[in-house]
Amino acid sequence: MWTKKDIGNQAGKTVIVTGANSGIGFDTALALYQVGASVTVVARDQIKANYAIIEMLKSRGNGILEAGVADLSKPESIKEFVESFSKNHHSLDLLINNAGIMVPPATKTEMGYELQFAVNFLGHFSLTAYLYPLLKATAGSRVITVTSLAYLSGQIDFENLKMEKGYRANREYAQSKLADLLFSIELQRRIDKWGDKVLSVASHPGLTNTNLSRYMSEEIYIATIERLGVIMPSDQGALSTLYAAVFEDVKKGGLYGPDGENGLSGYPAYTATSALANDRILANKLWKKAEEITGQNFS
Ligand SMILES: NC(=O)c1ccc[n+]([C@@H]2O[C@H](COP(=O)([O-])OP(=O)(O)OC[C@H]3O[C@@H](n4cnc5c(N)ncnc54)[C@H](OP(=O)(O)O)[C@@H]3O)[C@@H](O)[C@H]2O)c1
Repeated sequence: MWTKKDIGNQAGKTVIVTGANSGIGFDTALALYQVGASVTVVARDQIKANYAIIEMLKSRGNGILEAGVADLSKPESIKEFVESFSKNHHSLDLLINNAGIMVPPATKTEMGYELQFAVNFLGHFSLTAYLYPLLKATAGSRVITVTSLAYLSGQIDFENLKMEKGYRANREYAQSKLADLLFSIELQRRIDKWGDKVLSVASHPGLTNTNLSRYMSEEIYIATIERLGVIMPSDQGALSTLYAAVFEDVKKGGLYGPDGENGLSGYPAYTATSALANDRILANKLWKKAEEITGQNFS
């Protein structure tokens, strides 16, 4: 059983965690700060980032905490965050693509894309592309992308990314989480092709008690918990991400999640991925689409 005690000293490591003001991102950032890492706590506004840092400082960790601001639905905001981060940092050991939104009311970004696809996938694709030169220049660096077992019911509908055919909240969430996993696996394939040493690893937290359920009705939320029978506290939900981030023998391009029944609870373990998540043609098409939308590549 791998727990927080096994993380080990992370002094000297530079880490970015998106969505670090809440839930799994908060506990991921906190755990890394406690063992000496220099962590940039990214939230979508300064107040949320500062407040999270005040909370984390109460634990008197050994690391350093900095606030970062990026709204992942806004390309300009991601760019501004990276420009500001790059002014003060010349290495990046861990990029943790954690932020996420689930089943909001139908919403389009300024560019017209469905919000979950934009935040959960496009925003992290863009952030990773911007930071790739720094990751590449840092020995032993990793990109951790947080997906969900909801990916198993996902499909990528390239003709509905702007809700041209309507909106189904759960379907669009599953699509965004499949996109995250396709991205994580494809990133590793490309890293290998480019001859770089960065590791790309995905994690999923099982079922964890966080603010992610904010758009679910109380009735559906309670029924879901009763049906599934478990829900982990956020610090346990963060373990799979922490394991993917620091465990030495992690499998590149792999997925890590809880080892309990149906992968919903437990302690980090390697998790096999579906044939669709490993579909190279689909991953390549998604990558090209993301490049076209964001105007970015990983040069
Ligand atoms: N909890 C679970 O059972 C579960 C299961 C499977 C996968 N996951 C995944 O775990 C990750 C973390 O979620 P969580 O459960 O910890 O939920 P959470 O408590 O709601 O945290 C989500 C974080 O993402 C941030 N975020 C949302 N929209 C954003 C945007 N436009 N720009 C930047 N940040 C944004 C949120 O910021 P605000 O606080 O400002 O909204 C928050 O910090 C997500 O990727 C989620 O899909 C969770």
